[in-house]
Amino acid sequence: MNILLTGASGFIGGHIRQALLAAGHHVTPVSRQHGLDFTRMLTPQDWLPHLQNVEVVINSVGIIAETRGQTFAALHYRAPAALFRACVMAGVPRVVQISALGADEQAFTPYQLSKKAADDVLRELPLEWFVLRPSLVYGEGGKSSALFRYMANLPVIPRVGDGGQRIQPVHVSDVVATVMQCLQVASARRTLDVVGAYPLSFVEWLQAMRREAGKKPALTLPIPLGLVMASAQVGRFLVPMLHPDNLRMLQRGNVANVQPLADFLGRSPHPPALSPAKQARG
Ligand SMILES: NC(=O)c1ccc[n+]([C@@H]2O[C@H](COP(=O)([O-])OP(=O)(O)OC[C@H]3O[C@@H](n4cnc5c(N)ncnc54)[C@H](OP(=O)(O)O)[C@@H]3O)[C@@H](O)[C@H]2O)c1
Repeated sequence: MNILLTGASGFIGGHIRQALLAAGHHVTPVSRQHGLDFTRMLTPQDWLPHLQNVEVVINSVGIIAETRGQTFAALHYRAPAALFRACVMAGVPRVVQISALGADEQAFTPYQLSKKAADDVLRELPLEWFVLRPSLVYGEGGKSSALFRYMANLPVIPRVGDGGQRIQPVHVSDVVATVMQCLQVASARRTLDVVGAYPLSFVEWLQAMRREAGKKPALTLPIPLGLVMASAQVGRFLVPMLHPDNLRMLQRGNVANVQPLADFLGRSPHPPALSPAKQARG
């Protein structure tokens, strides 16, 4: 198939691209690295010249925090909405949107709300659409994976507030498998939460990463939520992922029912923290 893949230079997009090429698809990659900037692609007319003979569009562009030139409004909403509308005009039959867990009726951060705004546009269009909402995605090349591995390797693990924040990390291979399945199934127009096999607390996840690295469990150091939030106001300038909104999303929890994904894939996704290769070896 002829597939236009946005975010092709990114963590998730890069893994999707590899899988598409391995399956014999023709991929047109889109990103600034590939010469197209979403902040300049805000109308359907901007997209139309790029959609000739395209059979599937996969949108995997996103940012975790805004900078002066990179806004949620442009990258998560205006450019994707223009792209989706252009797909209708150009006759592209199928669109797969990588959204995010929490981009739902309870969305409360600008990140989640901007994702939901684009998802809602797509859902209204006469297309075969899929809205995939991954939880925290981990795997080779992931920026958050690198940060969490670093935290897991500290001699003492920070425990934010009561440490009970629930997450359901999903391995990037399961995200890719879900996208590949979206290309094959007949019944489209579906929203799917793409989550790992089961939820666990943030601290449990870091401890599991230590186990995987052959280390003993670390002591945990409780840090009041207020102090973490105050530090995040400064820390976000060094590590954008530490934006207070992201901590608020973590605090609320990032979990979902895994069964619809398992039914869609015909198997359960991987349990968190272990690499699929290691699981296969037991
Ligand atoms: N990673 C996770 O845990 C996670 C969880 C849930 C949802 N998601 C969503 O999944 C999608 C991909 O995330 P990711 O982790 O793969 O992020 P990533 O590694 O940061 O990749 C982002 C991609 O977006 C492209 N991009 C950024 N600004 C752009 C612009 N102005 N114009 C064109 N392309 C632009 C980047 O390419 P250039 O820099 O070359 O332009 C890159 O290809 C995002 O929508 C994200 O919200 C991710």
